[in-house]
Amino acid sequence: MIEAESLNKYYGNFQALKDVNFKVEKGEIVGFLGPNGAGKTTTMRILTGFIPPGSGTVRVAGFDIQTQSIEVRRRIGYLPESVPLYQEMTVTTFLRFLATIRGMKGPRREDRIKEVIRACRLDEYSKTPIAKLSKGYRQLVGVAQAIIHEPEVLILDEPTIGIDPRQVVHIRRLIQELGRDHTIILSSHILPEVSLVCQRIIVMNHGRIVAVDRPENLSAGLGGVRHYEIEAAGSKEKILSRLKAVKGVIKIEVEDAGPTKRYLVESQPGLDIRDELSSAVKDGGFRLLGLKTREMSLEDIFLKLTSKEKE
Ligand SMILES: Nc1ncnc2c1ncn2[C@@H]1O[C@H](COP(=O)(O)OP(=O)(O)O)[C@@H](O)[C@H]1O
Ligand SMILES: [Mg+2]
Repeated sequence: MIEAESLNKYYGNFQALKDVNFKVEKGEIVGFLGPNGAGKTTTMRILTGFIPPGSGTVRVAGFDIQTQSIEVRRRIGYLPESVPLYQEMTVTTFLRFLATIRGMKGPRREDRIKEVIRACRLDEYSKTPIAKLSKGYRQLVGVAQAIIHEPEVLILDEPTIGIDPRQVVHIRRLIQELGRDHTIILSSHILPEVSLVCQRIIVMNHGRIVAVDRPENLSAGLGGVRHYEIEAAGSKEKILSRLKAVKGVIKIEVEDAGPTKRYLVESQPGLDIRDELSSAVKDGGFRLLGLKTREMSLEDIFLKLTSKEKE
């Protein structure tokens, strides 16, 4: 349904996209995951025909984004990073305005507006001026405008960013429902977020695709690696050898922490070895001053993916 080939994009001298290639099959929900500045928004703007690529091609349903952009736009619904909403319009007026721009008219347009308002659970607010809506409801209006012209493909740029958690659940459910009869690409900088709704994740960093995988594989392989921070007093060599003997330990680094030492332990995914680590120190007759787990940050995950690529 979507084929992007060798996309490159420069802003001045800065290369925001570096040879980006991917395909999205009809009916798939795919997530673009990456930290700020990774190139997610740039890629989405190119896919929607908002900006041209520097080089490379995009085809949507077989149509070329540059030479057949009208055909492409007809098939795409786009929720940009910040939706240009007309504050003084009511939800219904705004949707009617956009439906008209996109070539809909008459009873079909009016039926579609009602249908979309219902689908996006905006019934209560259909006559409310957009300025009076909460951030979450505005985002729902953003999704509503993206689907009003019945596109086959939805491109949603960080659809849940800055929204309170209860409304996030709402939007997530809506995306899942839309996924039944749309091809969807959505972006996020949060792994659990894309894992919940996407069947496949394309990880981007510094303008490149660094991994493509199913969410469960990504979480298990990367987010699942556990880090522990142990502070203990006593012989460094002896403590180290006791910790190394604990099953599941992959790697240990030692840091000075004043008169004591801090041991940074990495263990295999899916294990919780806090008990074993604590016993290893105490049973050796050493004092355990602290033990905590450290989650791998997204930056760590991206670094790991990027360096893995280079190996
Ligand atoms: N219009 C622009 N002019 C110059 N640089 C830009 C512009 N838009 C984005 N960039 C830069 O390109 C990189 C990728 O940005 P973007 O695609 O917005 O990433 P993401 O959506 O993943 O956060 C960033 O370093 C950003 O600063
Ligand atoms: Mg962005």
